[in-house]
Amino acid sequence: MTKALSLIFFLVLITSSIFSQDPLIANVYNRNTTSLNGDWKYIIDPYENGYYNYRYEPFDQQESPWASAFFLNSKPKNPADLIEYDFDQMEDIQVPGDWNSQDPRLLYYEGTLWYKKSFNYTSNDAASRAFLYFEASNYKTEVYLNGRKLGTHIGGFTPFNFEITDIIKEKDNFLIVKVDNKRLKEGIPTLNTDWWNYGGLTRDVKLIETAPNFIQDYFIQLDQNDNKKIKGYVKLNGNDIAEKQVRILIPELDINEAYKTDNEGHITLDIHHDNIEYWSVDKPKLYDVSIQSSESKTTDQIGFRTIRTEGTEILLNDKPIYLKGISIHEESPISGGRGHSQEDAEQLLTWAQELGCNYVRLAHYPHNEHMVRLADKKGILVWEENPVYWTISWDNKDTYQNAENQLSELIERDKNRASVIIWSMANETPNVPARNIFLTKLSEYTRAKDDTRLISAALEQKDYNGNPLVRTIEDPYAEVVDILSFNQYIGWYDGLPEKCETISWKIEQDKPVLISEFGAGAKHGLHGDKNARWTEEYQEDLYIKTLAMLDNIENIQGISPWILIDFRSPRRVLPKIQDGWNRKGLMSEDGNRKKAFYVLQKYYEKK
Ligand code: GCU
Repeated sequence: MTKALSLIFFLVLITSSIFSQDPLIANVYNRNTTSLNGDWKYIIDPYENGYYNYRYEPFDQQESPWASAFFLNSKPKNPADLIEYDFDQMEDIQVPGDWNSQDPRLLYYEGTLWYKKSFNYTSNDAASRAFLYFEASNYKTEVYLNGRKLGTHIGGFTPFNFEITDIIKEKDNFLIVKVDNKRLKEGIPTLNTDWWNYGGLTRDVKLIETAPNFIQDYFIQLDQNDNKKIKGYVKLNGNDIAEKQVRILIPELDINEAYKTDNEGHITLDIHHDNIEYWSVDKPKLYDVSIQSSESKTTDQIGFRTIRTEGTEILLNDKPIYLKGISIHEESPISGGRGHSQEDAEQLLTWAQELGCNYVRLAHYPHNEHMVRLADKKGILVWEENPVYWTISWDNKDTYQNAENQLSELIERDKNRASVIIWSMANETPNVPARNIFLTKLSEYTRAKDDTRLISAALEQKDYNGNPLVRTIEDPYAEVVDILSFNQYIGWYDGLPEKCETISWKIEQDKPVLISEFGAGAKHGLHGDKNARWTEEYQEDLYIKTLAMLDNIENIQGISPWILIDFRSPRRVLPKIQDGWNRKGLMSEDGNRKKAFYVLQKYYEKK
C-alpha cells in the first residue's frame, strides 16, 4: 500500500473509530431492556494510567508488559503477579449521576474516571441480538465489554449504543467505561462555558434485546405542507430485511397500513387522514402509534401538529402563538447535580407551568429525554439546543463534524416529539465569516434531516448605526434562521434597569422575534434598594422595566428569560452571594421563589 493510501486508510480508521457507535435505536422506552443503573465501581485516573503506559502509548490497542490496562479488569493469577489496580475493592458510584455530586473529591474534577459493572445475562431467545445503550455520558466515552473495545463516543448530552451480541456472555460480564470530561479548545462545547462541567455516566445505561431483524428507527410526523398527511419512514435493522412487510397502526384513526421494505429494509410512509386531532398547547393530543414487522413491534405516543412562520408570526396549526417561556439548565432541583430523572423533569416543568409558561428553552445542550416526552404530554413547546456555545474552533473540520454528530443524535432521539418545535444551532457566537459558514452548513444539514421544525440560534444585539440608544440585529446568519432570537442584558451587563426606558429597537428582518435571554442576578432573601445589585428588588425592577421595553418590539413573538432556577457555574465566585452559583434564577436552587417570579407570572397571565 502506498504511503498516501496508508495515510488515508489510517485517517479513515481514526475518524470512524472516533464516532464508531452503531445506528441509534429509536424509542428505548418501548423496547425489551435490562437496566444497568445502580452501583458501579470507579477509579479516579487523572494521569490516565489505566490507558497509557509510561511512554504515553495507549494500552488501548494492545496489552503492555509493564502494567495492565484498566479495561482488562486484571486479577493476579499468582502472588508474584504485578497488578496495580482492583476495581472490586473500590467504592461504589451511582449510575446515572454525575461524579461531581457523589464524591467531595470530585466536585471540580475534570479528567478521566473509570467505571466498572459486572453482570450476568440470560437471553429470552437464543436468536436475539443484544445492544448496550447509554442515554448520555460527558464528555469522551470509551466502552469495553469483557476486555473488548466496543467504541468511542464524543459529546456529553446525546445517546449512543453498541451491538454486543457476539461478546455478551451468560455469566460474569464485565463492562468497563472510561469517561473523560476534560474541556477541549476544539470541543463542542469549548473551554469556556457558564455552567458546571458535570462528568460521567449522567443518564441511564441499559441493555436492549431485539429480534434478529428489528425496527431500529422511524420518523412519523405530520407533513408541514399538508396537515392531512402523516409522513415519514421506518428502518429495519438485520440481515434479512428486504421485501419485508411493515405495518403502521393508529387505532384511534382506524389507520392500519401495510408497506413492503426496499433492499435496505426501509419504507417511506404517506398516510392521508381527514380527521386528525392536532397536538396543541391547550390540547396535547397524543396518538398510540404501533409499528409492526414480522419479527418486531414497537409502540410510541405521537402528536401531530404543524409549526411554521409566516412573516413575523409563529403559527402552531396555522394559528399565531406567543411563546411564554423560560430558560432552563439541566440541574436536578431534587438532588442537585445533573438532572436525569422523571421526577426532575416533573418538578422543572411543573414550576414552568406555575410560572404560566407554554414554552421552555432547554439550554445550552440536549436535556434528558424525560423532559421532551413530558413536554409532549403537558403541552409545552420546546427549544432544544446544540452546545455550540460562545467561541468554538470554527475552522476545525473535526469540530464541525463533532457538532454535526451531536446535533444528528439529538434529532434522531427527539424527531417524533410534537413538543419540540425549534432546533437551536448555537448560543452567543461571534459574527465572523468562519462561524457563519459553520452555522449555515449546520442549518442546511438540519433542514435536510428534519423539515418539520424551525431553526434558530441565540444571537447578539448591537447598536443601530453606532447609536447606543437604538438596538438591532446585524448578523448575516440572521438571514438563515426561521426565527430571529437574541439575548440582551440591558439593565444588568449594560447599565441599570432604568436604561431600559431609554432604549428602542429596530429589527429589520421580516421574521418572528424571540428574546432568548434577559435577566439579573439576585440572592434569594437578600432585600434592599432596587438599585442595589443582588437584591431581589433589583431583579424585580429589571423584569418590570425589561418587559415594558420588549412590548415595544413590533414582531416579538415570545421570550425565555434567563433563567428558572439558580445554577452552578465555576465562573460565579462572589463570596456570600454567588459562591459558585449563577444567581439569575427566578427561584433559588432549593426552589424558593424570588420577587421577580411573580412579575413574570403576572405578565404571562395577561398574555
Ligand atoms: C449569557 C449566556 C448564558 C449565561 C448568561 C449569564 O447570555 O447565554 O449561558 O449563563 O449570559 O451571563 O448569566
